[in-house]
Amino acid sequence: MAALRRGLPHFAVGCVVKGFGRGSKELGIPTANFPEHVVEKLPEEITTGIYFGWAKVDNGPTLKMVMSIGWNPYYNNKKKSMETHIMHVFENDFYGSELKVVMLGYIRPEENYNSLDELIKAIKNDIAEADRQLSLPEHLAYKDHAFFTGKPVPQTNGSISNGIIANGKANGHGENQVNGNCNHTG
Ligand SMILES: Cc1cc2nc3c(=O)[nH]c(=O)nc-3n(C[C@H](O)[C@H](O)[C@H](O)COP(=O)(O)O)c2cc1C
Repeated sequence: MAALRRGLPHFAVGCVVKGFGRGSKELGIPTANFPEHVVEKLPEEITTGIYFGWAKVDNGPTLKMVMSIGWNPYYNNKKKSMETHIMHVFENDFYGSELKVVMLGYIRPEENYNSLDELIKAIKNDIAEADRQLSLPEHLAYKDHAFFTGKPVPQTNGSISNGIIANGKANGHGENQVNGNCNHTG
């Protein structure tokens, strides 16, 4: 089994908030943004950059994802963000839904690009890399983790930014969930 990067796996949960909306419009690659308090709880070891893992929206299936953490140098954002692109075509927006993710591996640092086309090409490469990585048994195993299935949970080594927690336990829809009250009841 490949060694995991420090701070990984990292579990996070929160209600999807609006970003700038450029992901869908300019890039054709929609992303779901976590609220600030989830971003702020990222452990220090989790540096900015591009990660892959699994994601689940409300009670939907667990799907492959790529995530960008940082300031989007191409757009020079003022606030650090955690943007998840779920590798699935959704018919509708899901602002206000609950998003759960587990980050399993690091792909590359965030970079600036000379054109939108180059940024899009880089993200498509990330998606292909995530697709390959997530098909490996050690990563595939997390798809059915209790964090997603809501089944009683064994101790996990992962850290959790936000909402739920604690005592080292990831809890699907646990009593400890602080911000489980997303607007949407999907
Ligand atoms: C997998 C992935 C990789 C990304 N890599 C970069 C990057 O290297 N540099 C960058 O400036 N933005 C990167 N982004 C962020 C996009 O610029 C961002 O999704 C876009 O600004 C849309 O955000 P918005 O919908 O909040 O406007 C990446 C996004 C994803 C999903």
